[in-house]
Amino acid sequence: MPRVELRFQWARLGDLSGVEFHAAMVQRVAVFVVEQNCVYQEADTLDPVAWHLLAWSGGQLAAYLRLADPGTNYPEPSLGRVLTAPAFRGQGAGQQLLAEALRRGDQLWPGQANRISAQQYLLKFYQGFGFAPVSEVYLEDNIPHVEMLRPG
Ligand SMILES: CC(C)(COP(=O)(O)OP(=O)(O)OC[C@H]1O[C@@H](n2cnc3c(N)ncnc32)[C@H](O)[C@@H]1OP(=O)(O)O)[C@@H](O)C(=O)NCCC(=O)NCCS
Repeated sequence: MPRVELRFQWARLGDLSGVEFHAAMVQRVAVFVVEQNCVYQEADTLDPVAWHLLAWSGGQLAAYLRLADPGTNYPEPSLGRVLTAPAFRGQGAGQQLLAEALRRGDQLWPGQANRISAQQYLLKFYQGFGFAPVSEVYLEDNIPHVEMLRPG
């Protein structure tokens, strides 16, 4: 598969420009609200306290996630809002994004696990990065999810 080349940008919300955060929110709303047809609170109280990871391809935002500090979403660090913009899917952006986030998380909080609320259809994707399911399937905003833990 062709592999897209990405430039990673890590920042707290206050260190992103308005244009950068807008680009992230456009993709988050496009994917999680519009594409997944889900009415829920997309911008929330984690945004001001999380790390944001923007993956750029030229001037376009190709992929994005946020990394919540321990004690904010879960007791452990927690990845969320993992997305690849539709135009960049199937080119390894999701793989590179996850690898970068886990590398950074291990650097920030050595030895700490990462706990996520994963959409069930991506179980295998996350298992490939060392996450294991630790809950039954549950509905979050009407979408089937599984809690998964990656040991530190
Ligand atoms: C999940 C997502 C980020 C993957 O992004 P991507 O850049 O296309 O992924 P990659 O090209 O790096 O592929 C990585 C792996 O993801 C998995 N994957 C991607 N799309 C998938 C799908 N629709 N169903 C199941 N697995 C999928 C596969 O395991 C794939 O590996 P493979 O190509 O060896 O089979 C992207 O499909 C997306 O943004 N989905 C919508 C948002 C979402 O549901 N986010 C997760 C919230 S928990």
